Amino acid sequence: MEAVVAACRSALAKQGTVIVLTGAGVSAESGIPTFRGKEGYWTIGAREYQPQELASHAAFSEMPWEVWAWYLYRRGVCRAASPNDAHYAIARWDDAFKSQNDRFALVTQNVDGLHRRAGSPPSRTYAIHGDVDLMRCSVECVANLWPIPPGVPALAKGEPVGEAARGLLVCPRCGEMARPHVLWFDEAYDEPRYRLDTVRDLAAAACLVVVAGSSAQTNLPWQVVMLAARNGATIVDVNIEDNPFSEVAAQSGGAIRDSAATALPLLVDQLSR
Ligand code: APR
Repeated sequence: MEAVVAACRSALAKQGTVIVLTGAGVSAESGIPTFRGKEGYWTIGAREYQPQELASHAAFSEMPWEVWAWYLYRRGVCRAASPNDAHYAIARWDDAFKSQNDRFALVTQNVDGLHRRAGSPPSRTYAIHGDVDLMRCSVECVANLWPIPPGVPALAKGEPVGEAARGLLVCPRCGEMARPHVLWFDEAYDEPRYRLDTVRDLAAAACLVVVAGSSAQTNLPWQVVMLAARNGATIVDVNIEDNPFSEVAAQSGGAIRDSAATALPLLVDQLSR
């Protein structure tokens, strides 16, 4: 930890953006199962689906209400969970930079809304895989995002979407079916919905990137770390296991092999002194 803190201090003394990049591991201690764990499986009819199959435009085109049922179940799990010490530490760190406008950015792969609930401001939070509390038009008549209406209930596992909820899950502009605002596996990042260009620019201008709880299996997080590293930023990895980000971090800031809810509060407290 001391070596990592020292590396972060020298990075912070330079000019540049400070990025915290979070993945599913940061919400693990809030009880939200990761996508790739056993709990992610979902049965429709006689078949078990893997999340990667359901979180796709192809699945939504074929069986939209089953995909919605899965998201409304997952959203219920997210809403029942509470932010943990990692989320709160990140919000505190953002606050510590408030006199240095726009220097801090939180880039998150998590769609669970826990960073927002812990106090990270939307203006500096880049939800690059979307947000389970938002929906948008399924035929993209307009780029607007809307909150999922309050009348749409959380569903139990296997429970279908009822008629009343179906009537609410429509685009407020054109009346077509709405879709969850999440990036699916067969879709690409873009600027209007997922802030692709903004996040790349922030990464290119970074002096420090702290990655926490991510397995480096998705494209934009990897780009963020590589762009930042190539431009001389210090990279730190917080994870309970080795992963491809730890190898990059080993070239500069180093890794903390501990849970996010333990490591991030310690790191932030030491750097805020
Ligand atoms: N503290 C720190 N790290 C942890 C913890 C913890 N308490 N628990 C698990 N981890 C680490 C794991 O070791 C793993 O490296 O978190 C990582 C979780 O990996 P993934 O589940 O692959 O999460 P992530 O990198 O966020 O990728 C998930 O891919 O499925 C898509 O779009 C979906 O955003 C999602 C992304």
